[in-house]
Amino acid sequence: MPNLSLRPRAVVAALALALPLGLAACGSSGGEQNTGSGSGSTAAGGIQTVSPGKLTVCTHLSYPPFQFNKDGKVVGFDVDVVDRAAKSMGLTQDVVDIDFEQITTGAVFKAKKCDVAAAGMTITDERKKAVLFSEPYFDATQALIVKKGAGVTDLAALKGKKLGVQTGTTGQEYAKKNASAGFSAVVFEDLPTSLNALKAGRVDATINDNGVLFDFAKQNPDTEVVAEFATGEQYGVAAKKDDPNAQQIITKINESIATSKQDGSYDETYKKWFGTAPGEKSTAAPSSSAG
Ligand code: ARG
Repeated sequence: MPNLSLRPRAVVAALALALPLGLAACGSSGGEQNTGSGSGSTAAGGIQTVSPGKLTVCTHLSYPPFQFNKDGKVVGFDVDVVDRAAKSMGLTQDVVDIDFEQITTGAVFKAKKCDVAAAGMTITDERKKAVLFSEPYFDATQALIVKKGAGVTDLAALKGKKLGVQTGTTGQEYAKKNASAGFSAVVFEDLPTSLNALKAGRVDATINDNGVLFDFAKQNPDTEVVAEFATGEQYGVAAKKDDPNAQQIITKINESIATSKQDGSYDETYKKWFGTAPGEKSTAAPSSSAG
């Protein structure tokens, strides 16, 4: 009996991994793996991908303005960054949604769920043990969002109150490190559920990356970002560790990021999603919507 009681989250994770395996298998004869099995999966420069002609990209939705659904399509800053890199490899980007922890642990790559992951994901020493990161492509820091007029401006003001955190994130880590402030952390699966809980008054504040919280506050004037904590984070695109093919893909992504910073396309993308040039104080994005 104890063996039958899988926790719901474990079941979801298992399903999420099983599905893409099925998808990946349908294009190949063996069904076990379809990388390296023929010219169909070989992109420019001899790069192999899990699905022929595609750069399959794992992410965790919804995380506007980095990745979110709009009119049935996944769009966002990260999507544009990876799109440029995919094109440079002669590939079309295909975005797959999955549990964030399946990405940070590298499980998605072992399961051949995707070639890379882009999820507003902070490069950390811990994660570097599990995945290979690209060069940083975005700076971020943790921030605190509350209902307007809540009178909360820092973690200390949350003593005896509830703080929403997103599971497996650096925001959750930051909350753990600062637990002595005396709040109780309420863990959510994703950003939208944590922010819905804030709006509904089920938590008193929510911690997450500044970019997404400023974006949400712009769309939801009854909320405001009251603090930023200088955690000095940087986002990277991740791929399978200790894998020459993945290394090749990451090299291409690094080249694409570097080129885009020189030819102005990076700045253009930044403006598109944040309304300002990089380095200018960004308060919100003009065009996204938290789902
Ligand atoms: N930057 C934070 C981290 O890496 C949060 C990322 C959450 N990303 C997402 N797509 N939900 O832990």
